[in-house]
Amino acid sequence: MGIEINTMKRPRILRRSSAIRSMVEETRLSAADFIAPLFIVEGENKEEEISAIPGYYRRSLDKTLGEVETLYQLGIRSVLVFIKCPDGLKDNAGTEAVNPEGLMQRSIRAIKSAVPNMCIMSDVALDPYSSFGHDGIVEGSRIVNDPTVEVLARMALSHAEAGVDFIAPSDMMDGRIAAIRKILEENHYHETGIMSYSAKYASCFYGPFRHALDSAPGFGDKKTYQMNPANRLSAKREVLLDVEEGADIVMVKPAMSYLDIIRETKDAVQIPVSAYHVSGEYAMIKAAAQKGWIEEREAMFESTISIKRAGADLIASYFAKSIALELNKEN
Ligand code: PBG
Repeated sequence: MGIEINTMKRPRILRRSSAIRSMVEETRLSAADFIAPLFIVEGENKEEEISAIPGYYRRSLDKTLGEVETLYQLGIRSVLVFIKCPDGLKDNAGTEAVNPEGLMQRSIRAIKSAVPNMCIMSDVALDPYSSFGHDGIVEGSRIVNDPTVEVLARMALSHAEAGVDFIAPSDMMDGRIAAIRKILEENHYHETGIMSYSAKYASCFYGPFRHALDSAPGFGDKKTYQMNPANRLSAKREVLLDVEEGADIVMVKPAMSYLDIIRETKDAVQIPVSAYHVSGEYAMIKAAAQKGWIEEREAMFESTISIKRAGADLIASYFAKSIALELNKEN
């Protein structure tokens, strides 16, 4: 044979058999890696599939409690609560967001008492409560930062009072982590955590989620507060600011188009990093699988593994339950 090859190095040895492959596998998923999003609606005995997030449901609180119990039994240790605010309660001041008897506050209390060991995280942003569908207070055509932060801090306090374990601010206003930490400290909530959506991009992949909560912006877009997908330095800046301001966990969102940002974040901080595999990323896989174009189970695992491999310690994902079910089958 005329071609000389280097036979001293044989990387394929480590891929020879399934035993060897699993022996040298670097990244493994476990149910405890996941944060399962929950969409809660008013009413009783409700369970409606979200058309743009196939296989995912909006449930009334009574139905949610059973689901949380199931998730816990599957090994999932954290849920992220979103609520759908009735239209009549939406305004431009976040009034319902701070209501101690609001759906979010009632949900936190009920989940805590039904499944006390589950870690409850709550989304903090005004969009589900906003008559404009924006994450902050609107003046003219502007989303005003500091008045919004004041409401977000009060909202976070009301979640802490209801017993939430982690506040998850997803609004991208400046200074909100410091303001939330301060109000928690002042009110003696020394054990309430903050998982900040630190590097949150202005992404089209949130489309199905906005459909689920009827929270799409009524005018304009979210580009004056969420980040430009073209930027990586601003991600680093936002992440480091949130660490300084007192975040306990920082998040990168979305996940799959931002694996580089997840890695850079992981290398830059000494606290856990989470990533949100968002609704549009999930919906794309579901839709292609429904068409028979990709194999759903494999796409679910490959995409999720890539997020963990990139550096995410925690993954918020609509696949959380399906993956936990599969992992339970293997054991
Ligand atoms: C609210 C919020 C959004 C998501 C999480 N919290 C939507 C948005 O910012 O427009 C998106 C989650 C997803 O798409 O799965 N601020």
